[in-house]
Amino acid sequence: MQASCTTELTAFAEDVLRGLSSTPKRLSSKYFYDDEGTRLFQEIMKLPEYYLTSVEYKLFTEQIDEIGRAFTEGSDKIDLIELGAGDGTKTAVLIEHFLDQKIDFTYSPIDISKEACDALSAKFHEKFPGLKINPHHGDYFKILDSLKNGNGRRKVILFLGSNIGNFSREQAVDFFRQLRGVMNENDHIFIGFDMQKDPRVIVSAYDDAAGVTAAFNLNLLRRINRELGADFVVENFSHYAQYRPVECAARSFLISREKQTVHIDALTRDFEFDQWEPIFMEISQKYTSAMIEELAAASGFEIAVTFLDKENFYCDSLWLPSQNHLR
Ligand SMILES: C[S@@+](CC[C@H](N)C(=O)[O-])C[C@H]1O[C@@H](n2cnc3c(N)ncnc32)[C@H](O)[C@@H]1O
Repeated sequence: MQASCTTELTAFAEDVLRGLSSTPKRLSSKYFYDDEGTRLFQEIMKLPEYYLTSVEYKLFTEQIDEIGRAFTEGSDKIDLIELGAGDGTKTAVLIEHFLDQKIDFTYSPIDISKEACDALSAKFHEKFPGLKINPHHGDYFKILDSLKNGNGRRKVILFLGSNIGNFSREQAVDFFRQLRGVMNENDHIFIGFDMQKDPRVIVSAYDDAAGVTAAFNLNLLRRINRELGADFVVENFSHYAQYRPVECAARSFLISREKQTVHIDALTRDFEFDQWEPIFMEISQKYTSAMIEELAAASGFEIAVTFLDKENFYCDSLWLPSQNHLR
């Protein structure tokens, strides 16, 4: 499952080339997570403004009996597969519950960050000695086919932490359709959605007072400098976040503070930046219940049950393959 460094570097270089050659310029948020990016994301999760982690954690702790029941109803053997597992804080609640309940289950976290993957694996080995864990370091888009099986156990695919928010609607539908293609009738997918709320609360989650999210975005320029031999002067860029309530989407940008030229050795070329030109870094889509229902239907799924927190800030939604869309 481990991708070779050469393949990763080539894919990274190709994506940076495509992104910085497009109008507007863009970089893919999946490259945020080098070792430093992973460390900075751990800090973001502890920020007072970044409500997403604490709200989803609370939702898991308060509703774990119902969540566990929904996962196991009609099946007593479960393979939990987590896409973009990160530090697994919320999943730990579920694992502890399953171990207490003596459920027959395995856990396969997948993460593009080697740092995150190794740290999660070490933490869970120590915390849960009896856990059957099979960690994979890699891009979840590339391992979907390996999820296909007919071993008779129910797959429950976890996609937590509002990971789906980083996809456009088209990318989300395409991704869920691909997932559906490797799922059996009895499998489930469990997705964390951040709900539409006061725009001021949302925008501050992506523009914290301590500047950690800014450092997280700027770190990608440092990664390009280090891995692709570029000469970005990081101080010449600043982080900017906005929320558009009509589209329910937060967007992050790095803004070129001056007219400048950046050379990238691995791409053997220069890139010109105008003063105040943006690089589009990330979308963080927020949802209404109607948007979630529409997304499930368009992707070939039915919603089995949705768990919301008391303030309607966040929800985790359990989907089943729709019988009307059988392959
Ligand atoms: C927003 S964090 C969420 C982490 C965790 N799911 C949570 O709820 O706290 C996104 C995680 O997904 C991983 N990730 C992002 N893109 C990925 C990809 N294409 N393949 C695998 N992992 C990815 C990152 O390394 C990071 O750990």
